[in-house]
Amino acid sequence: MGQAGRILIVDHQSRIRRETAEALKALDFQVDEVASGDEAREILKKSSYQVLLAETSLLPGGGLEFLVGPNAITSSTVVILMASAASMDDVASVMRAGAADFIQRPYGIDELCLRLEKALKVRFYENELTYLRHERDVIYRFENFIGESPAIKKVFALLNKVSSSNASILISGETGTGKELVAGAVHYSSPRAAKSFIKVNCAALHDNLLESELFGHEKGAYTGASRQRIGRFEQADRGSLFLDEIGDMSLGTQAKLLRVLQEKEFERLGGDKTIKVDARIISASNKDLGKLIREGKFREDLYYRINVINVHIPPLRERREDIPLLAEFFIRKFAADLKKNISRLHPEAARFLQRHHWPGNVRELQNCIERAVLMSEKEEIVVEDLMFMRDLLGEEEGVEGEALFKLPPQGIKLEDMENALITETLKACNWVQKDAAEMLGISKRVMNYKVKQLGLAHPRWLKNR
Ligand SMILES: Nc1ncnc2c1ncn2[C@@H]1O[C@H](COP(=O)(O)OP(=O)(O)OP(=O)(O)O)[C@@H](O)[C@H]1O
Ligand SMILES: [Mg+2]
Repeated sequence: MGQAGRILIVDHQSRIRRETAEALKALDFQVDEVASGDEAREILKKSSYQVLLAETSLLPGGGLEFLVGPNAITSSTVVILMASAASMDDVASVMRAGAADFIQRPYGIDELCLRLEKALKVRFYENELTYLRHERDVIYRFENFIGESPAIKKVFALLNKVSSSNASILISGETGTGKELVAGAVHYSSPRAAKSFIKVNCAALHDNLLESELFGHEKGAYTGASRQRIGRFEQADRGSLFLDEIGDMSLGTQAKLLRVLQEKEFERLGGDKTIKVDARIISASNKDLGKLIREGKFREDLYYRINVINVHIPPLRERREDIPLLAEFFIRKFAADLKKNISRLHPEAARFLQRHHWPGNVRELQNCIERAVLMSEKEEIVVEDLMFMRDLLGEEEGVEGEALFKLPPQGIKLEDMENALITETLKACNWVQKDAAEMLGISKRVMNYKVKQLGLAHPRWLKNR
């Protein structure tokens, strides 16, 4: 019961109140009723309603002032007023203060239902808009792009330089490395931020459908085109157009796209009116476009158009320093979402995560942490919380997806291997011996001994002496 919405009726006339309540209950609304403003205030402290249906004789000064205006306690509730013709002046003032609608008495239940549906729809769109704005403002921000590894710092430095320009950007990187996140952050930190960031997934649609998605069509352009459609290019005017998975675009569509990029104008499918657009192009691909060009599957001239600036996001396994940072970021995020009191990652769990190969990159890490946070009973994520990764991968030893290194055919000396391993780990840890020792699972003393034995020296160590 109550699928249609939760409604509170505030009316001192008990007969009208009850009749309305019964009629709405029969239509699957969940209805509560009270007779006065004071009762309404009390019940609103305990429960929430989508709609509040109130008679105007209680306004103003009648006990319902708390419903509307800047100090309203029910900002998430839609207020609809029931008014008799005599009190229309009051209605005007409270409508101005924030009530959503009013209905004149006497009314039929059909009319009331129409108003309710309209109000609920408006509220639905308002919520949707709030959510999308939140997504825009919160999700696509460089602050949310986590990483302090030298590789990611390089990406940041480049993006810093080019975000504010109009230059076309091609973002490359394996699946789940954050290409879409970067594309959105570029747009929302650019002077175009107030205009739209429009996404098109070129892999999801082909040829005619993709073209109609990009350029729009006129009514009757092809069978099934029963209405005019505004394409993504037009929507992105003065904003940015994100062409995701551009490597999957057919050669025919590539040719049309190239023309639009060169001439900055196009026609809708089936139309002859020329439309001018000014959209910044941000593209992404997890495929090697150079290889596609050699295979004749991607146009070289288009490649140069979209690839004025190339941003490559390295896979997670090439920047393992970022893994604990990302994991902690996701722990905080999911702990907040799931209302759990988890805030830390046990060092051993961090090392466990750092050893994994991460073929699905940051998205895979995010999913693993979500699951761990969901299942964890403690205040920190420990190795046991991550054991499902082993089961998922069906591996006995460790969670590495492939061999740790490639053995040269002639073999390799253990001593050389140890030297290389220690040096690489130190580099990855910014030459902080303590961190490198932890990563290698040895004590600080053993680390120090090895460093001396190998004759390793770094300017930072000399400075600290
Ligand atoms: N450096 C990062 N910091 C925080 N979150 C990240 C980072 N990189 C990726 N993510 C998150 O990981 C998920 C995957 O990122 P995104 O969708 O941008 O990847 P993608 O490169 O577009 O992947 P695909 O090629 O599969 O489309 C998203 O939820 C994104 O917010
Ligand atoms: Mg993507």
